[in-house]
Amino acid sequence: MKRVIVKSSKKYSIIIGKGLLENISDHILPILKGNNVYIITDDIVESLYISQLTKSLQRNNLVVHKYVFPNGEKSKNANNYIDILNDMAQKGISRSDTVIAFGGGVPGDLGGFVAATYLRGIKLIQIPTTLLSAVDSSVGGKTAIDLDKGKNMAGVFYQPDLVICDLSSLNTLSDETLKDGCAEVIKYGILSGDLLFNQLKKPIMKHIESIVYQCVKYKRDIVQKDEHDQDLRQLLNLGHTIGHAIELLSGYKVTHGQAVAKGISVISRISYNLSLCAKHTVDEIDNILTGYGFDLNPMYSPSDLASAIIMDKKRSNDSINLILVEDIGKCIIRKTMMNELEDMIKKAITKVPL
Ligand code: GLY
Repeated sequence: MKRVIVKSSKKYSIIIGKGLLENISDHILPILKGNNVYIITDDIVESLYISQLTKSLQRNNLVVHKYVFPNGEKSKNANNYIDILNDMAQKGISRSDTVIAFGGGVPGDLGGFVAATYLRGIKLIQIPTTLLSAVDSSVGGKTAIDLDKGKNMAGVFYQPDLVICDLSSLNTLSDETLKDGCAEVIKYGILSGDLLFNQLKKPIMKHIESIVYQCVKYKRDIVQKDEHDQDLRQLLNLGHTIGHAIELLSGYKVTHGQAVAKGISVISRISYNLSLCAKHTVDEIDNILTGYGFDLNPMYSPSDLASAIIMDKKRSNDSINLILVEDIGKCIIRKTMMNELEDMIKKAITKVPL
């Protein structure tokens, strides 16, 4: 078992290990005040894991409530958000009680937003069950719901009081969901350097504890320096600007991980065209991504991708911050004019073909 301490606006632990759900109360009890625990999860996680979680809590005389919605991004909506708040109020959940956001990115983001806003904020424990939520969305306090116009458009920064990552829950993930998380892990490999990047060239499940630990530690270091995404934290968006555009254009049929993989590949080509990195860096990045089975074809025309990026919420007036690659372990944030973007993508795709 490993522990990472985050010292941000809230100080909290991230506990990473196998088989933690069984006796989860050992970790949770020290931070609880009230008797009520309100679990927010989806139907797949409920069917697989909720009994382990609730048994451990009930053995310790806690009153367990749950709100379960259908698995998938569509559930991260304003209707479910309001419904959960009303249900909590009806059940008498008080300021000293605790929300557990249990599952992947959707329960994590929605549960986090509920905890942040119910009675102006109550305790929050994140228990991620997917690789993507373990290494990224459960850590760092980004909470949100989607609006009709796009993903994560309403939300707040709200750090959890505890994150417990039971790696055993990764064993039941579908190949596609696991692969989605691998795109984020590869992102951390490119950002953090050779140690993690080279480890990712071998099958990751053999060293999963060490890999999740390194990703979380990297994110922790960034969040401690820039909790509110003003500068340094934007590095974590490597591949995401183009990735989000691909997700949007596909009507979310292309999953987040698949889109981010394509985005990372295009961005490494843009970096090469700007003479920021060597060709072998582009090849190394392509090789690791294709080794994990990612198809790197960006699927859409440069003009469609550029228009979708302009709609992205991260734009600031007529420019955007792109995360570019200088080397494995060395990425930079560069302000780029919107009107240059289409041409950059076009050159990236045509001059350095896949
Ligand atoms: N997922 C990127 C971040 O938390 O900043």
